[in-house]
Amino acid sequence: MDVDVQKRHIKPADRMVGLPTQFFAKLVAKANAQIAKGRDVINLGQGNPDQPTPPHIVSKLQESATNPLYHKYPPFSGYAFLKEAVATRYKEDYNVDLDPTTEVAILFGGKTGLVEISQCLLNPGDVCLVPDPGYPDYWSGVSLAGGEMSFMPLTKDNRYLPDLTAIDNEISSRAKLMFMNYPNNPTGAVADPKFYEDVVKFANEHNVVVASDFAYGAIGFDGVKPISFLQTPGAKEVGVEFYTLSKTYNMAGWRVGFALGNPDIVAMINLIQDHYYCSLFGGIQEAAALALTGPQQCVEELGALYERRREALFAALDRIGWRAERPGGSFFCWLPVPEGYTSESFADKLLFEADVVVAPGVGFGTHGEGYVRLGLLTSEARLEEAIERIGKLGIFTNSSD
Ligand SMILES: Cc1ncc(COP(=O)(O)O)c(C=O)c1O
Repeated sequence: MDVDVQKRHIKPADRMVGLPTQFFAKLVAKANAQIAKGRDVINLGQGNPDQPTPPHIVSKLQESATNPLYHKYPPFSGYAFLKEAVATRYKEDYNVDLDPTTEVAILFGGKTGLVEISQCLLNPGDVCLVPDPGYPDYWSGVSLAGGEMSFMPLTKDNRYLPDLTAIDNEISSRAKLMFMNYPNNPTGAVADPKFYEDVVKFANEHNVVVASDFAYGAIGFDGVKPISFLQTPGAKEVGVEFYTLSKTYNMAGWRVGFALGNPDIVAMINLIQDHYYCSLFGGIQEAAALALTGPQQCVEELGALYERRREALFAALDRIGWRAERPGGSFFCWLPVPEGYTSESFADKLLFEADVVVAPGVGFGTHGEGYVRLGLLTSEARLEEAIERIGKLGIFTNSSD
């Protein structure tokens, strides 16, 4: 629920008033109002994985829930076996060495760490470099820390990678932190080794900490496995990577994530967490460790499922004449808005005239204007139906007609 904190009788702290408004809360409310009217709404606007957690992971939680050890407080920064499990996965998947005792922090989902890192590093007035368009939770942490955001435009011409050479000297000298996120939400773009090398160089030159958000690390298409920032020489000296089980194993509701890499930053995150929480329920930690060390076929199957959906969606887009580029990773598609509409007016038209929810690009930042984001989080049949409904509005012209 959106609360207007300024109107409340109890006066909140300034940091509450400064929190960015939840753009997408409005979207959810509009869609729900249509559903309440009995409309058959196809929601492609959100990023919540639709598949269940693989059964072997659920069974492990059922079993471990009965262990009385886990009914007590867990150790402050979590169990060693879970830290070892994620280190093992990184070694196997990316050939990255992580010391589980000093280079791994367990998080209540990636989101928590992405907000905490700003609080760990930014003093009021410090600059944080943030991608535009980008995942809005970066803004939340910077706002809570009283930091100042400087946006790095992600444009099609630069393959939705920030142009580090375009960052003003005055800004880079004041910047302390930089967020980046590949495979990218919302554009679906992926990063290459050369880009990450440039990031490490930039970070060293300007003494900037890098926060690599690898939430969609497991979802790459066309046989190309997304690379981890930590594979880059020197990455661990300048930053951390945030990894989450939410998308890799359909465990969004379980809230398991990690900060990995630079030991000083990992220590700061553990310290701030010692003040906020005691770690995750032990049973969840045990099941999460099994997810990471057990059979990984479920991850491959999930990637293949999203790729089939991507193909079904793009075939349907092609049929109606909506031309766009396929994403290289993540489960999002970034589609241009036709002339004469803003991303919001177009999203409203699709909701009210086609019963299809899409996320207006402007909700991810000003450079998101001109695009809408569609998630591959429903069946191929529903994706095709959504695009057929949009086709019937007659906005696009199919040149092959
Ligand atoms: C880009 C990005 N980063 C991080 C997250 C956070 O995921 P979680 O808090 O579930 O680990 C999300 C979730 O949607 C995301 O899209």
